[in-house]
Amino acid sequence: MIYIVGIGPGDKEYLTLKAIKIVENADLVVGSERALKLFNIDEDKKITLTKNLIEELKNLINNNNIKNKNVVILSTGDPCFSGLLKTLLKIGAKKEDIEVVSGISSIQIAAARLKISWEDYNIITLHGKEKNKKKLLNLIKNNENVIFLPNNLKEDAKFLIDNGINPDTKIWVLENLTYPNEKINLKSLKEIANEDFSYLTVCVYERTLK
Ligand SMILES: C[S@@+](CC[C@H](N)C(=O)[O-])C[C@H]1O[C@@H](n2cnc3c(N)ncnc32)[C@H](O)[C@@H]1O
Repeated sequence: MIYIVGIGPGDKEYLTLKAIKIVENADLVVGSERALKLFNIDEDKKITLTKNLIEELKNLINNNNIKNKNVVILSTGDPCFSGLLKTLLKIGAKKEDIEVVSGISSIQIAAARLKISWEDYNIITLHGKEKNKKKLLNLIKNNENVIFLPNNLKEDAKFLIDNGINPDTKIWVLENLTYPNEKINLKSLKEIANEDFSYLTVCVYERTLK
């Protein structure tokens, strides 16, 4: 069985007991260095994923030696939101061969920090999804609430400004959530377009009341 296990936003305290139990009983645990560090795993059971992640995961799911083993693939946040579930299904993993263990998404942490109810927000990711930039643009043009994962926030802000959004429009920028260097700031698009941000960033646009 292949378990795709959500590890939450990054701090150990946001791991689920289920995730810990499944990792403890695993024959093999695969994940980024950041993800593997959250657990006590014997060295001979660990595989660290690199930038060549797609090839590495393909090799793993096509490896006959793992058929009768408990293999865990660690995924940031929740695997079902912009996570490894989609990647694995795309490269040929079969639904009947996998089990998904939910984790706490960075989206949920962002909502908790800002004390907003996420059912009132459109939720999108720009991660590797160029077409979602247009969606984001239209949502902000229509003054709708949005929580989004940026692709490259500086460039995303430039795109919004270049396509007619007022540069003074304010966006919440939530970086490194749950880590000691967590930062939460309300910034204008023109400020954002001149700064660099952490890879770990969630953004929130709260509609302005007219
Ligand atoms: C490949 S996506 C995975 C999203 C993940 N499945 C989730 O549910 O949070 C990676 C992106 O998630 C967001 N993210 C994940 N952890 C984060 C954190 N601790 N703080 C801020 N953003 C985070 C960032 O936008 C990051 O670039």
